[in-house]
Amino acid sequence: TEQELDEIYTFAVQLGKDAGKLLLEAAQLRFAGSESTVLEVEEKDSSVDIVTKTDEDVEAFIKTSIEAKYPHHKFIGEETYSKGASRSYLISDTTPTWCVDPLDGTVNYTHLFPMFCVSIGFIVAGKPTIGVVYAPFLNQLFTSCRGRGAWLNETQRLPLIRSPIPPMPVNAPSGCVFSCEWGKDRKDRPDGNLYRKVESFVNMAAEVGGRGGKGGMVHGIRSLGSATMDLAYTAMGAFDIWWEGGCWEWDVAAGIAILQEAGGLVTSANPPDDPETAEIQEVRLGSRLYLAIRPAGPSKIETGREGQ
Ligand code: IPD
Repeated sequence: TEQELDEIYTFAVQLGKDAGKLLLEAAQLRFAGSESTVLEVEEKDSSVDIVTKTDEDVEAFIKTSIEAKYPHHKFIGEETYSKGASRSYLISDTTPTWCVDPLDGTVNYTHLFPMFCVSIGFIVAGKPTIGVVYAPFLNQLFTSCRGRGAWLNETQRLPLIRSPIPPMPVNAPSGCVFSCEWGKDRKDRPDGNLYRKVESFVNMAAEVGGRGGKGGMVHGIRSLGSATMDLAYTAMGAFDIWWEGGCWEWDVAAGIAILQEAGGLVTSANPPDDPETAEIQEVRLGSRLYLAIRPAGPSKIETGREGQ
């Protein structure tokens, strides 16, 4: 019911704040130069796929809190999955599911680059319905609940930036800021892998903008190192397009909920070869391939209202 959803939203927002506080404390320890935290990095599938004790501790905190409050809900967390490696992580259409990355941007965290966050998604009937993303070092809290808007720090409605950017990729490159991630797969696959796809998208962005003839080149290309932050910044309007091939559900569940609620588009798609004919497909969690486009509007910045 609506009331249940409200309660879950309030609970999720508080959980995100509490978990973010734990991340902040752990990060401050790192800034203080504690040797013990430096030694806590472990490699998973490759040398860039890493986990720290903080990932594990914060996930345990979130999981325990959810299980105590909602024992019948399903829980999928990055670290729980990495350890168990069973297919049971698959998102169910019938059971409400929490999809959590306790620390998205782990590499950033270990390098003391402040783009890292806790990412809590709540999925109902297979659709990202609630999103809570908290980047404690930046003091940015992004929240959304289906039908209730998407918010920054509970007071500013997303998107923040006013711009007449059209919703399709075709027009976006001119003057846009484009964000892409490199993922963690460093295998050399001969069949046109991630790198080539990113390269072609970057070329396309530069070319399409250039063809406009009025200095309409892409304004910038960014890579934040956190898929969740990319989606939140696209929802804010700071990025016009984000693309990544290689994400897991927990990297995107909360961010997709926020972006969609802000009025942005996200599709399970490769960069289109021909942007004029690109079709926006409904996003499918589990596809590992995502293309997100910023919301077109709103035209006013709303402040002073509660986000929940
Ligand atoms: C990773 C980050 C990264 C993205 C990877 C993710 P993690 O998550 O979001 O930007 O390229 O696909 O797995 O390991 O930092 O939680």
